[in-house]
Amino acid sequence: MELEWRIGTSNLSREALLPLVPLDLVWRPALASMPPQFDVLGAGTVESVREIAVEFSRFHLGTFPARGGNKNARWPGDHRLKEIGAECMAIGGMFSSDMAIDLGTANTLVYVKGKGVILNEPSVVAYYFKDGQKKILAVGEDARLMLGRTPGSIQAIRPLRDGVIADFDVAESMIKELIKKVHKRGFFPKPRVIVCVPHGATPVEKRAIRQSVEAAGARKAGLIAEPIAAAMGAGLPITDPTGNMVVDIGGGTTEVAVLSLSDIVYAMSVRVGGDRMDESIVSYIRRKHNVQIGEATAERIKTTIGCARMPENGRGQSMEVRGVDMLNGVPTQFEINQGQVAEAVLEPVQQIVDAVMSTLEVTPPDLAGDIVDRGVMLTGGGALLGGLDLAIREQTGLAVSVADNALHCVAIGTGTALEYEKQLRHVIDYES
Ligand SMILES: Nc1ncnc2c1ncn2[C@@H]1O[C@H](COP(=O)(O)OP(=O)(O)OP(=O)(O)O)[C@@H](O)[C@H]1O
Ligand SMILES: [Mg+2]
Repeated sequence: MELEWRIGTSNLSREALLPLVPLDLVWRPALASMPPQFDVLGAGTVESVREIAVEFSRFHLGTFPARGGNKNARWPGDHRLKEIGAECMAIGGMFSSDMAIDLGTANTLVYVKGKGVILNEPSVVAYYFKDGQKKILAVGEDARLMLGRTPGSIQAIRPLRDGVIADFDVAESMIKELIKKVHKRGFFPKPRVIVCVPHGATPVEKRAIRQSVEAAGARKAGLIAEPIAAAMGAGLPITDPTGNMVVDIGGGTTEVAVLSLSDIVYAMSVRVGGDRMDESIVSYIRRKHNVQIGEATAERIKTTIGCARMPENGRGQSMEVRGVDMLNGVPTQFEINQGQVAEAVLEPVQQIVDAVMSTLEVTPPDLAGDIVDRGVMLTGGGALLGGLDLAIREQTGLAVSVADNALHCVAIGTGTALEYEKQLRHVIDYES
């Protein structure tokens, strides 16, 4: 049996470590590429891992138990030891796959403690029925490619709608598959998982998300409000006694929140996001061109030439698109330009701007003053729509910036809560 192992030895030099570990182990090639906080990382048989344990125990005050007992013994320097099975008394700073999950309507991202975002897949599941039961065929990108292209016997669906779970069985299978992808070894302890939930989620929805995550294999599931995660991921100083405004524009929802002292002062969630923009583009093209296009094509138009403001010459760039002519049912190709896309997405864009305006109106004056000074931070994939920041700036008069790595902010922020769990305990909900 092979074990993955990792020894956190931040207070030892690599030179001190080298003679400690038998040379035939596979960790040596891995040394160069290791993250700095882990000096030794590798894989080996139970026997070889035990050998490492014994070697370490000789050099470190004899406190490292090579056999038997003491599940959570500590080395000086907080090296936690864990037992792997009855056979092998395991290793320091165990391979941890505690993880943070951004369970999004459009994309699900998994952040693994100590590693960062290691999985980013569309929230899509394809399944078929066998003996009356749903059997999973594909999850993530593989399933997304099937959207709109499945035969009658297969369904490809997005189990989350408006940021909350719409189809429980399928969502649970999706979470399970994704956890499996990053937590491969069955005999490691079940991971602790922190998941973000929309601010507007009801207690019932929160319980459902927690249950799904636990049923999918988590030992313990903590929840964190999405706007807090988005703000942390965008690098806003949320613990300060200052007002910060974050606008997370996802696939299904846009959440506008004012934060101060690590908590939400006011938040508002509107069911408008990237999906609504896609739908608007589909119906615009149907109305104006008499052509039916698929949602995937609409999304491609949006991410390629999409813009929230009318270009100066009214046209801007253009691209070729294919669809079905509604008059004669024949596939056809036509050109669409940025001016047309801006016109198509006018309404959802205006709804996002209105949400920002309404939030400002109810923000207490001192915090509103802070926001005037500090500006508004946009996160989420929808924030990448060309010129959206300018459109919001024009109408609100506030400085607006788009977060670096907008698509990863919520996952990074949720991951931050996992990494600094002790310090950020008050923003994580393990109870409800
Ligand atoms: N360059 C781009 N321009 C415009 N929209 C984009 C761009 N890139 C991605 N998007 C859109 O961003 C959306 C996905 O964003 P994100 O991953 O933040 O959503 P999500 O977290 O899954 O959804 P939610 O937070 O609502 O549950 C999709 O609608 C996608 O089309
Ligand atoms: Mg999101």
